[in-house]
Amino acid sequence: MLNIAVFASGRGSNFEALQRAIVEQNISASIVVVISNNSSSGVLTLAQSFGIPALHISQRQYSDTKLFRQKVLDTLSAFNVNFIVLAGYMKMLDAEIIRTFPDKIINIHPALLPKFGGEGMYGMNVHRAVIDAHEKESGATVHYVNEAYDEGRIIGQQRVDVSQNETPESLAAKVLAVEHQLLPRVIKMLTEKN
Ligand code: GRF
Repeated sequence: MLNIAVFASGRGSNFEALQRAIVEQNISASIVVVISNNSSSGVLTLAQSFGIPALHISQRQYSDTKLFRQKVLDTLSAFNVNFIVLAGYMKMLDAEIIRTFPDKIINIHPALLPKFGGEGMYGMNVHRAVIDAHEKESGATVHYVNEAYDEGRIIGQQRVDVSQNETPESLAAKVLAVEHQLLPRVIKMLTEKN
């Protein structure tokens, strides 16, 4: 059974898609806590509406990195977390936390890695870069998180066509729709493997 902590900074549509899929498809996993670095992020209210504990934990609340890291680790242990999903989490996860959960942390990225990943490649920047590079296709990638961030082993990808008159906004919407399928599919596959 996966006891999942979702880390997110924004609206939380991937969290919602995953939570709904877990319930509807009877996936043997449970989102036990949602953690956001951003107190006004939609994901916190969304999680509460599903009755899932939603916590605002930010580096800014702590005078040093160690205390912040300890708070995150204590929270994960209090909720018996054994798997972490980064779904639009805009912060680097502390290296010590990554080491504590080897091969138990995944991230969803809105492009076909290894292309269009790394520094600065988030949000609309990604879709703009894909269009500027005249790519014929884009998509979503779920990968393991290691200390080099977007470079962890790829677990699954789902493609979309980039049309002639594509805009970053239209591409973002297309990719988001496949993210909502891919993330639950990967989680389901991982639970069936265990
Ligand atoms: C998604 O596009 C995800 O790929 C990226 O951040 C976005 C989060 O969207 N890492 P949401 O908060 O899940 O709606």
